Amino acid sequence: MVSDYSSPANAKLPPLPAPGSPRRLEGHDKLTGRARYAGDFTADLTGGVLDAAVVVTSTQATGRILSIDARAASQLTGVRLVLTHETAPRLHSVMATNGAEIGDLLPLQDDKLHYYGQAVAVVVADTLATARDAAALVQVTYSAPEPDAAFTLAQGRGRAQDVKKVGAGDPGQVQVGHPEKAFAAAPHQVDMTFDTAAHHHNAMEPGAIVAAWDADGGLTVHLPTQFSYGDAVILGEAFGFGLKERLPNIVAQVLGGIEFHHKVRVVSTMTGGAFGSKNANVHLLLAPMAAKLTGRPVKLVLDRAQTFTLMPFRGEMHQRIRLGADAEGRLQAVLHDALLAKGTAGQFVAPIGEGTTKVYATPNLGLHVQAAALDTNAPGWMRGPGAPNGQFALESALDTLAHQLDLDPLEIRLRNYAETEPDTGKEWSSKALRECYAQGAARVGWHHRNPQVGSMRAANGRLIGYGMATAIYPTLQLPARARVELGADGRAVVQTANHEIGQGMITAFTQLAAETLGLPLEHVRLEWGDTRLPYGGMTVGSMTTLSGGAAILEAAQQVQKALLKRVVTDKASPLHGLAPDELRVENGHMVGPGGASESVAAAMARHPEAPIREEATTGRTMGHSSYGREAFGAEFAVVSVDPDTMHVQVERLVGAFAGGRILNPLLVRSQLMGSMVWGLGQALLEQSEMDERTGHWLNDSLGEALVPTNADVADIDVILVEEDDSRGHPLGVKGLGELGITGVAAAIANAIYHATGQRITSLPITLDKLL
Ligand code: MOS
Repeated sequence: MVSDYSSPANAKLPPLPAPGSPRRLEGHDKLTGRARYAGDFTADLTGGVLDAAVVVTSTQATGRILSIDARAASQLTGVRLVLTHETAPRLHSVMATNGAEIGDLLPLQDDKLHYYGQAVAVVVADTLATARDAAALVQVTYSAPEPDAAFTLAQGRGRAQDVKKVGAGDPGQVQVGHPEKAFAAAPHQVDMTFDTAAHHHNAMEPGAIVAAWDADGGLTVHLPTQFSYGDAVILGEAFGFGLKERLPNIVAQVLGGIEFHHKVRVVSTMTGGAFGSKNANVHLLLAPMAAKLTGRPVKLVLDRAQTFTLMPFRGEMHQRIRLGADAEGRLQAVLHDALLAKGTAGQFVAPIGEGTTKVYATPNLGLHVQAAALDTNAPGWMRGPGAPNGQFALESALDTLAHQLDLDPLEIRLRNYAETEPDTGKEWSSKALRECYAQGAARVGWHHRNPQVGSMRAANGRLIGYGMATAIYPTLQLPARARVELGADGRAVVQTANHEIGQGMITAFTQLAAETLGLPLEHVRLEWGDTRLPYGGMTVGSMTTLSGGAAILEAAQQVQKALLKRVVTDKASPLHGLAPDELRVENGHMVGPGGASESVAAAMARHPEAPIREEATTGRTMGHSSYGREAFGAEFAVVSVDPDTMHVQVERLVGAFAGGRILNPLLVRSQLMGSMVWGLGQALLEQSEMDERTGHWLNDSLGEALVPTNADVADIDVILVEEDDSRGHPLGVKGLGELGITGVAAAIANAIYHATGQRITSLPITLDKLL
């Protein structure tokens, strides 16, 4: 199920906008509907039959299921199965590596309710319409709800507990120096609290899965995911395939040369939006459970409301920031206390202290993270996880300090510029943040604004404000493996089980392999997103190019080395007798000194029996580096505010980002632009409304969950500041996708302050907060 994008129809499009920027190879297929997502699967792909499954979710958060009456549903013509906790296959325990609730809470295993919108039944029928009708007929009765349930941070404050580890293992508690003492002694202080709303992913593609068991008891699932191998392990564990090694050891298995395989295959060709929402989801287990009982392939697509409870989201966060500074605005102490919502199950706590521990130089630093387990589904990975929230708080507080000291907000950031990593003292692998500040400020006209609060007005009378903030995102790398094969036709196939989640991985990897091999782009074909391919790692944390790209680079280099060795020893080659390092490979031709040359295709055609095939495994050190490795940027916002209605319009966003070497400026610019739009949504619009009485996410539809539209986003400018990060990564690249969201909400809030004099400390900044 791997599409061939080696000869894209988009060759007919106008010239490329920037050198080194191939357009998305799968773009034409996506726009014309040829690209097939799991939810698009029809029976022709599953051997002629494909039943439809619909999930029934609970309408109560706590208590127990007393009874499920499926008689009416079962009697509809075409209904094959109503799966409940009483009839569902028993699952073996699984371990989720990413903190997802699936590790603590397997579906349909007992009668206990944990949250509103929990899966309580699955109806399978021959058509989707019948399955939907039948699902509506399933009658569930519940015991009385528990009286002391908590659905919001305000309700669950008493459940707060210290958190040792956040995210994928960063410390939840940090202390450098004596932050409390230094804060108390500082001549200038800021002490502020911030609240940020829960919000949900709302990817265009909801969760979806097609599950088919074969006659030998093997299981194949097609689903959008960010981690096919991880999902395969969960399925292997849950259905008792006798997989001995649990997920963390999978990496060790792969590195040890033992290819991971059992009777589970996970295929994820296309993923329509992910950014944390798509891996280890509950429906991963529901569809195979149903298909096991019916003996036929099943397709299950969540409806929009179900994505609010059966997929992860960004939970509510409460933060307190204390900054102590000297008279020149130099930070003497930074203290960050955070209370984050956790789910009733799921271990995930967002890494919220990235900014406070890594952005500014300070001798005294304290981070104290707590989490409160609420009676809701589990928050999880979402768009930069905690960094956008942490940066909102820190950068709003720093702006407040700047105004208190009558300092330019940009100047206070330069005075606190961290020449080494603040919490570790490590040297940076590279850091061009100063250039980002300078170029962003120049582009937005920062120094031409009137810095006086409330002083600027547009010709139409709207208040104008300028704000800025620093962007930060960690540069991570995990183990990955890739295989590159150069065939007798001189064309290469690249294989790695990484995932296209809309970020442009297919294009970036194909381009990287082509450039490394010296082949034209159309002579390279990528195969991805399938556990039959080499372990590609997780498509998370803005590290796809760092992880998978490193493996492709190494495998492609080895292939080229073998090719050159072959031609110089091949008597039939015009390059025979030359030294391999005298040759370069360009556009499919090997060229030597004095103009001797031969095409790769001609050289390979002489040995059709011997394609060149190499594999590489990279990232064995699991991301540990002797350098501080972060990507930085500067976000600038210009807003206008109606003085009567206080309606806020973001007029302009300028982001200047230093993210190492830029492989494909077109893709990177698009990613960062999208990421900045996320930030705008977080700042002004996105908010999931919780019914505090029942635990129901109320605005669980695209009609009521507000996300930015073109009218909300006036003008976004992305400046790419190139860095040489070759001592950080063999490709010199950094993590970029999620960098763009961090700092945006603060830049907008700071601009609103500049326009109106109102300091809004809770997100989203809706009209009512400004009136
Ligand atoms: Mo990202 S939130 O690691 O998909």
